[in-house]
Amino acid sequence: MIYMNIISMRDLDKKTVESIFSLAEKAEKGKLPERKGILATAFFEPSTRTKLSFQSAAERLGMKVVDFIPEVSSLQKGESFSDTVKMLDNYCDIIAIRHPKEGSARLAARLAKHPVINGGDGGNEHPTQTMIDLYTIKKEKGKLDGLNIVFFGDLKHARTMRSLIYGLGMFGANMILISPKGLEAAPEIVKETKEKFGVEIIEKNEMDFTNADVVYAGRIQEERFADKYEAKKVMEQFRLKLEYLKKAKKDAIVLHPLPRLGEIGPEIDDSGHARYFEEAANAVPIRMAIIQYALEK
Ligand code: NCD
Repeated sequence: MIYMNIISMRDLDKKTVESIFSLAEKAEKGKLPERKGILATAFFEPSTRTKLSFQSAAERLGMKVVDFIPEVSSLQKGESFSDTVKMLDNYCDIIAIRHPKEGSARLAARLAKHPVINGGDGGNEHPTQTMIDLYTIKKEKGKLDGLNIVFFGDLKHARTMRSLIYGLGMFGANMILISPKGLEAAPEIVKETKEKFGVEIIEKNEMDFTNADVVYAGRIQEERFADKYEAKKVMEQFRLKLEYLKKAKKDAIVLHPLPRLGEIGPEIDDSGHARYFEEAANAVPIRMAIIQYALEK
């Protein structure tokens, strides 16, 4: 049996992501085969959707779940990350992990015999969220290539945005990146995505949503700021208002990985544009597909 780790969008190709989408479609129809085994969730950072949807996905597949909770574990006695991962690996068949340090999921994958799925490593990557986002856009718009996607938020620190820029590039979408000054996407990500996939990526600091098919908003990542006051200041200034969407396409949709704080005005919820709760619901079939794929590859 060859296992597959899911650590970075950069390790995946279009064919693999499309296979995961097909499995997710089957999952939605209740057509994925049942499977035995245990998923371990090891979340060293807060989580609602990612952890619970991984657990729900495993249970829906017929698997069992063990949950490592750092606050009540031997981590408190000083046990190392490496030893913790090695132990956990003995008690399960697959591990979903989240950790504040960039590179931690890759390290866990090196240490474990079983597949490791990255549920977010610091400000680096969040590949399973990207697959949820791509799947949601494809479901809503019927395609990904040629769409205009406007990003809105903290592009410097948000791992969801970092992974999605690459993922959308892979599928041929064009991007406009709107962020507060100083919170722009890392230049190497933009350059890499443009060069590798030949897509258009334009960066802006002003609110311009002209011709948008999709607006992808995100939270200012306060926990990754050295100066929390700076984060609070931009949070207040950077809010998506319904009037900004006037120049977007009529059927433009608004996505957000959630949790949201104040960056999406409440008037967006009832505007017909909001799809963030549908997006969150897609987390279960996509994560069922990812577990299945990682265990069977
Ligand atoms: C995101 C995360 O943890 O990166 N949430 C999620 O997984 N759906 C977004 C965030 O915390 O802002």
